[in-house]
Amino acid sequence: MNAQAPIEAGPLLEVKDLKKHYPVRKGVLQRVVGQVYAVDGISFTVGHGETLGLVGESGCGKSTAGKSIMKLIEPTSGEINVAGKRIDNLSRGEMQSVRRQVQFVFQDPYSSLNPRMSAGDIVAEPLRNFGVAVRSEVRDRVAEIFAKVGLRREQMDRFPHEFSGGQRQRIGIARALALHPHLIICDEPVSALDVSVQAQVINLLMDLQQEFRLSYLFIAHDLAVVEHISHRVAVMYLGKIVEIADKRDLFGRAQHPYTEALLSAVPVPNPRAKSQRMILKGDVPSPIRPPSGCRFHTRCPYAVERCKAEEPKIREIAPGHHVACHLRGPDA
Ligand SMILES: Nc1ncnc2c1ncn2[C@@H]1O[C@H](COP(=O)(O)OP(=O)(O)OP(=O)(O)O)[C@@H](O)[C@H]1O
Ligand code: SF4
Ligand SMILES: [Mg+2]
Repeated sequence: MNAQAPIEAGPLLEVKDLKKHYPVRKGVLQRVVGQVYAVDGISFTVGHGETLGLVGESGCGKSTAGKSIMKLIEPTSGEINVAGKRIDNLSRGEMQSVRRQVQFVFQDPYSSLNPRMSAGDIVAEPLRNFGVAVRSEVRDRVAEIFAKVGLRREQMDRFPHEFSGGQRQRIGIARALALHPHLIICDEPVSALDVSVQAQVINLLMDLQQEFRLSYLFIAHDLAVVEHISHRVAVMYLGKIVEIADKRDLFGRAQHPYTEALLSAVPVPNPRAKSQRMILKGDVPSPIRPPSGCRFHTRCPYAVERCKAEEPKIREIAPGHHVACHLRGPDA
């Protein structure tokens, strides 16, 4: 396997004001009658060897953000830099070299693996496509990657349906690792797995990070998993990032009312421990017509008049701790 990524100044991934709006079409003529503001101006970085967790309720734009970064879907606007190189304006062909550096692990390891290919061929495919190993070496390279993810050489000739869910996700991880990427975008990589298997896959990802100095953008809604694996965490609400902080600050000193609500919904292991649950009123508003001002104002228990009219900017309120709320910051 490859040597560790070189230690470089600056983040590995830098995302600036990323937007992805999907057109809403209607009628026989399929006229565009509106937009889904799925991702609406998010900025963040992921350092070398770092895991940034990305959390938020279903539909807040996590997967859209992950796919836009890799240009699996075309972003509407924004700037994306990988290792200091701008990639958002690259053509499909030019993106090929980036695809070696940035890989994706999907939620459902079954539907993301071709059922007609053997596990070995699935992992060998990127090696062949990119011509990074001569034919006679491919099998040995695949066996080596199999060993790294805890699979046996003789399992290379089996097909996806012959593996358990956890093993299938190991194949997905092996395929992502084949080209020695620097960044892996993991979109809910363990949510489809049994709880007992989740920990094994998370520990594998953490071991691989240590060994290859990998960076992860780790998308998930399970906060316990995110707390375990992440160094920093970003919280999304209706297409916006509302808070980013070091994991300890986020879980210990959450500042945004939405983060507070998310955390208070997590069951507390000790039933006698005092947990002040904050129940959010109402449903998540539609991303087609997001609320004015602060998008969270329709559900926020602390909302004041200003929140309806003025959108709070995301600001650094303590070193590395960024929050978008009128109640937090210098003029609060
Ligand atoms: N191809 C599409 N066309 C139109 N709208 C879309 C499309 N894909 C996603 N959306 C909408 O964009 C918003 C964000 O979706 P996304 O899948 O990114 O959310 P998510 O945070 O990943 O949710 P989940 O936790 O359920 O996976 C949702 O309102 C969704 O309905
Ligand atoms: S800006 Fe206002 S509505 Fe938004 S989170 Fe802060 S207090 Fe709540
Ligand atoms: Mg998703």
